[in-house]
Amino acid sequence: MNDISQPSKFELPTIFVIFGVTGDLVKKKILKALYHLYRKKRLPQRFRIYGFSRRDYDDGKLRSYLREIMQTNSYKEPEYFDEFLQAFSYVKGDFNIKVAYDDLAKTLGRVDGEWSICSNKLFYLAVPPTSYSDIVTNLHESGLTKPCGPEEGWTRVILEKPFGTDLATALGLDRQLGDLFKEEQIYRVDHYLGKETVKNILVFRFSNSFLTPSWNKNYIEKIEVRLLEHLDVQSRGEFYDKVGALRDVGQNHMLQLLGLFIMDHPYKFIPEDIRNKRSEALASLHVMSESDVAKRTYRGQYKGYLQEKGVDPKSQTETYFRIEARSDLPDFDGVPLILESGKAQECEMIEVIVTFKETPLCLYDVEGEQKNTLHYHIRPDEKITMKFFAKKPGFSNETAEHELGFDYNKAYSKELFVDDYESLLFDIIRGDQTLFVSTQEIMSEWKFIEPIVKTWKEQNKPALFEYEKGKKIEIKS
Ligand code: BG6
Repeated sequence: MNDISQPSKFELPTIFVIFGVTGDLVKKKILKALYHLYRKKRLPQRFRIYGFSRRDYDDGKLRSYLREIMQTNSYKEPEYFDEFLQAFSYVKGDFNIKVAYDDLAKTLGRVDGEWSICSNKLFYLAVPPTSYSDIVTNLHESGLTKPCGPEEGWTRVILEKPFGTDLATALGLDRQLGDLFKEEQIYRVDHYLGKETVKNILVFRFSNSFLTPSWNKNYIEKIEVRLLEHLDVQSRGEFYDKVGALRDVGQNHMLQLLGLFIMDHPYKFIPEDIRNKRSEALASLHVMSESDVAKRTYRGQYKGYLQEKGVDPKSQTETYFRIEARSDLPDFDGVPLILESGKAQECEMIEVIVTFKETPLCLYDVEGEQKNTLHYHIRPDEKITMKFFAKKPGFSNETAEHELGFDYNKAYSKELFVDDYESLLFDIIRGDQTLFVSTQEIMSEWKFIEPIVKTWKEQNKPALFEYEKGKKIEIKS
């Protein structure tokens, strides 16, 4: 990873342009991340933020809009709000009309003139994917994305999932991006990779020698990735109905988690090697045939979903799925890799469970199976627990299950934690792509997901089942 004690490139003046500054992502994530970075002095010393949107705002109106978000969401240290908001200016424009980009280019040119330097430029596409194409084309045509040089005045573009709706659209988007930008300029955000617990996965796996010999098919019986959410689709019915659970969280967050659990050791702990190994892991997933899909996948919809606002009353969209995947990686060949996710679940639980095989020879009296499990909790719990067996005290040789554990929130004070978007934005500024999804990873994810979606849709196999909101779903495999 980059050496952040070397601030030279990082310190260059930087201009952020946020497309969709009045949208949901800025409101919920980006503004807070920028403010925290500002307060922690993790933004370049000289920076400006240009918010681009269609609304009839000016600088003053944008600042009061953002101020209100900061107040209603109780951001800390309100005495710094004004100072921070001074960095914001507004650019009104339609994403598909080039003239606004030409104006933006002139404005940014003036700022560079003021600073007497070619500043770094960071373009954040916080907009629905339908606008990506217009924005990147116009940015390119108005010359805004042209870096001044490799070391000075870089330009970077940031995009959010979903990257396409299937393999063909993902390829189309990628081709367009690839024509206009180099891969090192493109930052594809999967916010799961920025979570503290997720950033720890590789450290946990590769810094603890006791794990190394057992991290393979000889010892591991199965790996389960669970993303179970208590809430239903809430106000997102219209969006969700077109996407479904598998494309909403399976194609991205969950496959990324699985990749981190099964990938091989990177040659070095540097962005290229880590991304390559993650990518190899995703490419190793077996592409399922129709009969595999029918046998090894399940999909459900909660009762009441069809009455949600924006949902087609005859919708067949899944709000729950369970998939048993397989990988070709020599260490995991034949090991069931289970992905399970759902809305309106009994509990909120995002975790990866690694179940180890039973010891072939047990010395003591055991009732039932005796398998060790490693529970890697991502959210809301942020901890790692290991279930193991010990002898009960007394004359008998009975065993009992116990737990070893590490809890981030007990071990460290809350102030040390860095939010996902804060961490990702910091990495974008310093140019570290480790936590960003590469084009190869996106394609492998789609290659795995597409046949499943297709069989569900075209063959209606397996049939969609209905489940009660808040009740545990039991699937026997
Ligand atoms: C988003 C999905 O990408 O991830 C949501 O669109 C889901 O449906 C969310 O709820 C989960 O993310 P987090 O950070 O809340 O665990």
